[in-house]
Amino acid sequence: MSIQGKKTSALFKKALDVMPYGVNSNFRYWGDDDTIIATRGEGTYLWDADEKRYIDYRLGFGPVILGHGHPTVVKRVQEAIQDGTVFAWTTPYEIDLCERITRMCNVDKVRLTNTGTEATMHALRIARARAGREKFIKFEGQYHGMADYFMFSTASANPAALGSKRSPINVQATSGIPKGINQYVINLPYNDFERLEETITAQWGDIAAIFVEPMLGNSAGVMPKPGYLEKMRELCSKYGIVLVFDEVKTGFRMANGGAQEYFGIQADLVTYAKALGNGFPIAAIAGKEEVMMTIEPGHMAHGGTYSGNVVGTVAAIATLEILENEPIIDTINKRGKALMTGIDEILTEADIPHALPGVPSMFGIVMGVEEEPQDFREYFQGDGELYENLALELIQRGVQPDGDAREPWFLCAALSEEDVNETLNIFNDALKVAKE
Ligand SMILES: Cc1ncc(COP(=O)(O)O)c(C=O)c1O
Repeated sequence: MSIQGKKTSALFKKALDVMPYGVNSNFRYWGDDDTIIATRGEGTYLWDADEKRYIDYRLGFGPVILGHGHPTVVKRVQEAIQDGTVFAWTTPYEIDLCERITRMCNVDKVRLTNTGTEATMHALRIARARAGREKFIKFEGQYHGMADYFMFSTASANPAALGSKRSPINVQATSGIPKGINQYVINLPYNDFERLEETITAQWGDIAAIFVEPMLGNSAGVMPKPGYLEKMRELCSKYGIVLVFDEVKTGFRMANGGAQEYFGIQADLVTYAKALGNGFPIAAIAGKEEVMMTIEPGHMAHGGTYSGNVVGTVAAIATLEILENEPIIDTINKRGKALMTGIDEILTEADIPHALPGVPSMFGIVMGVEEEPQDFREYFQGDGELYENLALELIQRGVQPDGDAREPWFLCAALSEEDVNETLNIFNDALKVAKE
């Protein structure tokens, strides 16, 4: 059974003619019969080429925090871009946005980029230049964008290849990466205090940075154990390692000040993207004065023709203004709690052991587990096939989460109580069919 209607299917065939697999990001390819062509969005809804409406819980992989096509954001961008979009000089818009980010996120300095990948890539360079060391730690199941250095043991990695927890193997997530890069990357299982401390005490002289998604936003929203991020902070401060919070998914979503505010921990560098621009392409590297000032013309490079361009920058100003002046995250959390409670009840009623890791604005559904997973390996003990069946049944009925349980459900401020109730009714029906 395909989830494509006739027009979607015809358009997708055309897409296959001109784009590898008919998409502009591999993550959007769900197979020739299950890849959707989206034509428009409004608030919490998106429509496909057959005019079918979905309650959207993918929200473009997370950016849309206010709702699709938010009128204020769109209008501000429309007005601003009439006067041009790139000048290769700093604009007052960039000053305004960076001031907002420093205030909301309690950071000293900011540099703007366009995508999360650009932000993490530069953050790694800054950390290496600052520490004068070359290796870095990341965690299994975490994704930090498409740059070669990060493409090991991501959420796309085969968990069977990860080796023993005591001695994890870096699993390359794509062809096309030079072999030598592997030597600079140390992957550790998340939430393992002992492994973290052991690795750092043995190798700190080589380690420039720890890169961490404070919650596993690419592995179903697995949360840090109490004290784990604090331990990271303590070890980084002790051994001169740059702590980088990759807040591309959590920034301006977990709280106005992101995961730093939510967990009450300050990293040395933070990367933002996604919710920062409500769907417009804009990202940022931010952090402490002494670390950010490693950037130095002629010595430590950061650049980009479109960094700070008017389109993304004005969208972000408008988005952050709304986040600061309206109870956006509170509203989303309220709806998210109702949704999580409802899903929990339905799964319990259906006798399906499950966990819902994460926070109400972005949470995962892991079925077939008795306890909440603590790392990527434990997440994989869940019933991914049942989830995939469920997701396809939901999509048939007009509720659109990602087809893969690793991707959390994302909520936006436009989601109403009625949308939550509609989702739960559909969830109930879809689950019955998926179970069969
Ligand atoms: C935590 C994290 N970091 C970085 C990225 C890369 O961001 P982008 O896709 O904007 O390059 C992503 C994308 O999903 C992400 O989830």
